Amino acid sequence: MMMIRNSVQGTRRSFSVLSSLKATEAKSTEGKSSKNGKDVKYQNLSEAQKAYLSRAIRVDQAGELGADYIYAGQYFILANKYPHLKPVLKHMWDQEIHHHSTFNNYQLKNRVRPSLFTPMWKVGAFAMGAGTALISPRAAMACTEAVETVIGGHYNEQLRCLNSQFNLDSSDNTTVGQPEEIKALIANVAQFRDDELEHLNTALQHDSKLAVPYWLLTEGIKAICRVAIWSAERI
Ligand SMILES: [Fe+2]
Ligand SMILES: [Fe+2]
Repeated sequence: MMMIRNSVQGTRRSFSVLSSLKATEAKSTEGKSSKNGKDVKYQNLSEAQKAYLSRAIRVDQAGELGADYIYAGQYFILANKYPHLKPVLKHMWDQEIHHHSTFNNYQLKNRVRPSLFTPMWKVGAFAMGAGTALISPRAAMACTEAVETVIGGHYNEQLRCLNSQFNLDSSDNTTVGQPEEIKALIANVAQFRDDELEHLNTALQHDSKLAVPYWLLTEGIKAICRVAIWSAERI
């Protein structure tokens, strides 16, 4: 993280990670923000900032794809057998589908290469969701608790970096601020972080802590999530 932060402070040049929005939106407001009703044009992102955004979009898309498939696996096993859990799981799954599709759009618009492990994330995530659900509903909730703990922390780290390292000088050097695209990304990440923490609460309310074997499940799944985040940022 420190390396990212240090490198992000490099020379500011073009704004291409978010600039490919231009390809699909003729009247892009990219690199602009509004101040007192006037459009403010900002200097371009540095290469380090662009690289950070690419990595962030890649890992977030892979993570939300994983979450989508984890809840699909849980729903597949538990929805009919435990009717009281059906709407609970469906609500969380629907939110993950929204997160996933939002980052699919970011990935397409910004031409960010998907993680090369994408097929593995799909199979592994579905197996993790279904596998823990087969142990018990509490084990599925322990899986949710572990995943959302790691993802909530990951999003918080990302928000700290986006908020502190993406304040750009305006083109005329009269002000400093964030372009609309950065503000929108921050708003999405903050909303998704809140949703993940709501899922974490739901898991706790559904006795995730009573799962057997709780420690093995949660610590094992947290370790898998951390390795997955590390890999999806890079590969
Ligand atoms: Fe999510
Ligand atoms: Fe979630």
